[in-house]
Amino acid sequence: MHTPICDKLGCEVPIFAFSHCRDVVVEVTRSGGFGVLGAVTFSPEQLEQELCWIDDRIGDRSYGVDVLIPENYDKQVSGNQVLVASLVPQAQRRFVEEMLSGAGIAELPADMAQEVEDRFAARQRTTTPEGAQEQIEVALRHPKVKLIVSALGTPPKSLVERLHARDMLMGALCGKPEHAVSQRDAGVDIIIAQGTEAGGHTGVISTMVLVPSIVDVCTPGMAVLAAGGISRGRHIAAAFALGAQGVWCGTIWLGTRESELTPMEKRVLFEARSEDAVQRKWMTGKTVRMLRSKASEAWEQAGAPQHLKPPLQNSLYYTAKARIDRAGRADYCSFPAGQVVGTMHEETSVKQVMQDFLVEYAEISEQLVSLYQEPNTQ
Ligand SMILES: Cc1cc2nc3c(=O)[nH]c(=O)nc-3n(C[C@H](O)[C@H](O)[C@H](O)COP(=O)(O)O)c2cc1C
Repeated sequence: MHTPICDKLGCEVPIFAFSHCRDVVVEVTRSGGFGVLGAVTFSPEQLEQELCWIDDRIGDRSYGVDVLIPENYDKQVSGNQVLVASLVPQAQRRFVEEMLSGAGIAELPADMAQEVEDRFAARQRTTTPEGAQEQIEVALRHPKVKLIVSALGTPPKSLVERLHARDMLMGALCGKPEHAVSQRDAGVDIIIAQGTEAGGHTGVISTMVLVPSIVDVCTPGMAVLAAGGISRGRHIAAAFALGAQGVWCGTIWLGTRESELTPMEKRVLFEARSEDAVQRKWMTGKTVRMLRSKASEAWEQAGAPQHLKPPLQNSLYYTAKARIDRAGRADYCSFPAGQVVGTMHEETSVKQVMQDFLVEYAEISEQLVSLYQEPNTQ
C-alpha cells in the first residue's frame, strides 16, 4: 500500500488521520500513517505546546497541521467574544435558553461561564484570517511539520509558494470538483476529496462520485486523498480503485482510547447508527454532519428561529454544549461524526485500527487480484 505521496511525506502507508487530539496524531504516525493535527481549537500559545509535545514523541517522522483559512470573513465579527456574544439576536438566544432550561439543564456557575467564554474567544480568533496566519507561523517553527492543510477553501498562492520554498506540501479539503480546479490553480499538492458521508462540514456529493471527478481535474504531480466514509480496509481498496493515492479519515479515531472524547461522548458515539449522523446547522450555521440529538432536532422543528451565520451560531452552540456536558445529558449531546459511526461499537486503539485497516486491505486485494485470473477450464 505504498503510493508516491508516501515518499513525498516520509510515511509508510497513505493513511492520513485528521484529529484534534495530539495522541492520535502521534500514534497514527508511529504506526506508519500520517497524522494531521486540527489546529482550530487551539490558541497560538496552545498550538505551540501541542506541537512541542508531538515533536518530542514522534521520533524523526513528519506530520501535518490543519488550519481554517477563511476566504470571506465578516470584519465586524472579529475574534472578540464580547462582540460575538452581543451580536447574537434575542430570538435565537431565548430559543436556546428555553430549550435548555425546559430540559432541566442548569446554567453554568459564573466562573465556569467566564472560562467557557474565554476559551471560545481564543478559539474564535483562529477562524479569522489573522488568527489562521498566527497558527501557520507557529507551525512553520516546527521542522517536523511537512504538510499544512486548509480546512475550508482555496489557500492563498503566496502561502503555497512559501511552503514549497521550505520543501513542505499544501493540502486542502474539497467537496466539489469546481473547487478542486481553483485549488489546483493555487498550487495545492494534495486535494482531500471529502464526500458527504464525512463528519464535519460537508457538501452533498458522495465520496464514490466525488473522488474520480476530482482526480480527473488534477495534474499528474498532485495527489488526491479520499475522505468520508472510510473506516476499514475494503474502503481503502475502493479509494485506490477510484484513483486516490490514499485515504484521510476523521470519525474512526474518535472511538479510540487516544481520542479526546469524554466518556459520555463515547457512549453516544457507540450507540449511534449511521442514520444518526445527520447534516445540521446547529453547530456553526453551515451544514455539519454531526450526531443527531434533542438539541440539533429542536432547531428543525416548525417555529424554530433561523440558524445564524458563523461565528454567531458557534457561540450559541459552544456555550450550550458546555452546559449539556456539565449536566451529563447524553440526549442533548451532538458533535461532528460521519456515517461510519454506525460501524463503531466499542472503544479500540489507534494501533488496532491501523492493523485492521492493513489486514482487511491485504485480504481484499488478494480477492480482487483473483478476479483477473484466467478461469480454470479443466
Ligand atoms: C470531530 C470532527 C471534527 C472535524 N473538524 C475538522 C476541522 O477542524 N478541520 C478539517 O479540515 N476537517 C475537520 N473534520 C473533517 C475531517 O478532516 C475529515 O475530512 C472527515 O472526518 C473524513 O470523513 P470521516 O469522518 O467519514 O472519516 C472533522 C471531522 C470530525 C469527525
